Amino acid sequence: MSFTADQYQIRIAWQSVRPLVAGRTYLLRRGQQELLVSVTALKYRKDDKTGEHLSAKKLNAGETGIANISTAQAISVDEHKSADIDILDLQTSELLGKGHIEFPLYRATNIRWQSLSVDKSLRAAMKQQQPRCIWFTGLSGSGKSTLANMLEKRLCERGLHTYLLDGDNLRHGLNRDLGFTEADRVENIRRVAEVAKLMVDAGLIVLASFISPFQAERQMARRLFDVTEFVEVFVDTPLSECERRDVKGLYAKARRGELKNFTGIDSVYERPEHPELVVDTCDHSVEYCVEQIINTLLPADVGQ
Ligand code: ADX
Repeated sequence: MSFTADQYQIRIAWQSVRPLVAGRTYLLRRGQQELLVSVTALKYRKDDKTGEHLSAKKLNAGETGIANISTAQAISVDEHKSADIDILDLQTSELLGKGHIEFPLYRATNIRWQSLSVDKSLRAAMKQQQPRCIWFTGLSGSGKSTLANMLEKRLCERGLHTYLLDGDNLRHGLNRDLGFTEADRVENIRRVAEVAKLMVDAGLIVLASFISPFQAERQMARRLFDVTEFVEVFVDTPLSECERRDVKGLYAKARRGELKNFTGIDSVYERPEHPELVVDTCDHSVEYCVEQIINTLLPADVGQ
């Protein structure tokens, strides 16, 4: 029997101190082949002693679980070929877990990509603009939403077609089932990145404003787009300044221990390594930073 599919059920033994989190993108190695893979669902974890199936949102070092995966390209599995796989870290290629492919998911063989006659380039041409995703990342209170809001105003004044996706706002609707654990933040960013991609496909200039604290998810978002389409703006406001501003009173709450998993306090923020632009809201005004974004990233769009 042989299969070619891009979605499989796998069994995986996790080794890394950084847990496997459903929704996250990794590197899958099989023999000489390496390709992107995302864990679409963690079905269960196996209890070592009893063999019992336990529901799990993440897999820690030493644990074994069953997961569904989706690979960037279809892969073939047949009985004469090893189905062993390694899961590696996307940035460092560190070995995180070892396992094997169990079987393809039926859904994968029944869904084809539908080609449509009206495409992104036609939609963009009608809007006379180059679709993009401008991704703002930074701590809560760093100024992401303020900057995105003013940038959107400036772009609209010039007749450009935009849409602003904002963390707080999306958490009232599409993402209202998600909290602030690592697994929920991974899923939050996966969903909004997919939404941003659809909007870019619709020909829009999308401004996305999310803490997006993990390097892996920001990279996952970037990979959904063509190289020139995705620009990352790091709003590099120090924690001390965000905490001093504390517009929503959330830092004070987190310090009092009334709010768990708060970014910068008891949840990490991984600084971007290679953002297209770093803005400094301590030494510069919002107007200055927005000018900087337009001049550096969008000069052609606004006719400069
Ligand atoms: S993200 O980490 O998953 O990217 P997102 O940008 O959607 O976060 O939401 C962040 C906003 O949620 C913050 O600006 C803040 O107003 C609010 N918030 C509530 N609880 C938390 C928390 N534990 N950590 C960070 N932000 C929180």
